[in-house]
Amino acid sequence: MNIQPFKLERYYTLHEHTAKYSLCNSDCEAMTIADLLSLEREAKEAFENMWLGYTHTQGSPELRRDISKIYSKITPDDLAVCTGAQEPIFLFSHAVLNSDDEVIVQIPCYQSLQSVPESIGCKVLSWSVQYEKNIPCFDIEALKKMITNKTKVIYLNAPHNPTGFLFTKEEQQAIIELARINNIIIFCDEVYRELEHKPSFAIPAFADAYENGVSIGVMSKAYSLPGLRIGWLATQNRTILEKVTMLKEYTTICNAGPSEFLAGIALRNRHAILNKNLKIIQHNLPLYDTFFTKYADFFSWYKPNAGPIAFVKMHFEINDMAFAEQAIKKKGVLILPGGVYDFNGYFRIGFGRQKIPEALEQFESFVLENLVEK
Ligand SMILES: Cc1ncc(COP(=O)(O)O)c(C=O)c1O
Repeated sequence: MNIQPFKLERYYTLHEHTAKYSLCNSDCEAMTIADLLSLEREAKEAFENMWLGYTHTQGSPELRRDISKIYSKITPDDLAVCTGAQEPIFLFSHAVLNSDDEVIVQIPCYQSLQSVPESIGCKVLSWSVQYEKNIPCFDIEALKKMITNKTKVIYLNAPHNPTGFLFTKEEQQAIIELARINNIIIFCDEVYRELEHKPSFAIPAFADAYENGVSIGVMSKAYSLPGLRIGWLATQNRTILEKVTMLKEYTTICNAGPSEFLAGIALRNRHAILNKNLKIIQHNLPLYDTFFTKYADFFSWYKPNAGPIAFVKMHFEINDMAFAEQAIKKKGVLILPGGVYDFNGYFRIGFGRQKIPEALEQFESFVLENLVEK
């Protein structure tokens, strides 16, 4: 397989565990196993007595039942539990695509949504973000013009990494109608779903709203448990589900039983976990508001309606990769440069972690010393 290096993950591999402060994580504040077990009576004893045999390839029926509660139409039989969200992106693409297919991808993107179809030999067309007065948008008329009789899949990500953009229900319906009349599958990466900043911003999962929709979810982001490595693919289309499950027998065969058990506890208590994470987000967002108002000569940001990340535009002439390197070198602060998305002049910030205030303080001192006083 000829696949591009994953720029964002390479960057994290280099810095994530060594940077003193992190201002750009896309996950929310994680929990310990003890915290999780304390959410249900008798969970600790049951966990300690778990049998460590092989588990179901499709995911345990109990966990699939808990996951299905996030959806309206999706049933436990419409789900395949996988390792994180990365595995279902890989499995779906390999299960469904051939080298002569065309796909359309929302750009910028979490790179696997683009690089995996490319590595299969598909023609990948970019549905690029447009910024209007600093607000990201995706033009549905432009999407319509990109569709040909070879278009097999439209890859979406909602809420979107890195811009924080989320479709309205009307936009979602318009995209589904386009896909339906052209017989196109919609694959939507929904790892930040359920982190809408107000309930009215929420839109249905594409797997619920469209018979040929595929949604992926994960424990890593909204439910803040990336270490479990539990994700899933949801679809009403049984042909896709069966192909994905067959292919999984060549990758991970089944999931880690202890992780499935812990994910079940988290999902049954998901409203408490989501409230905890939304509180952290609501605490951090005003700090960024103050910061970006104060330094409006240097930066502007779009404050998203959902998720734990935003993309910040830089108003000065320095390469974003170099700017990010300097922030780490001089103050130990990790920001994610737009270059890892091939989208220069921006950087990504996060607000789902508890230590954002002190990381932002360090970043402010970096800005003062390196931009304001220059
Ligand atoms: C949009 C998106 N999809 C998929 C993933 C991969 O998730 P996981 O690490 O849980 O496999 C990420 C991780 O950052 C992401 O941002």
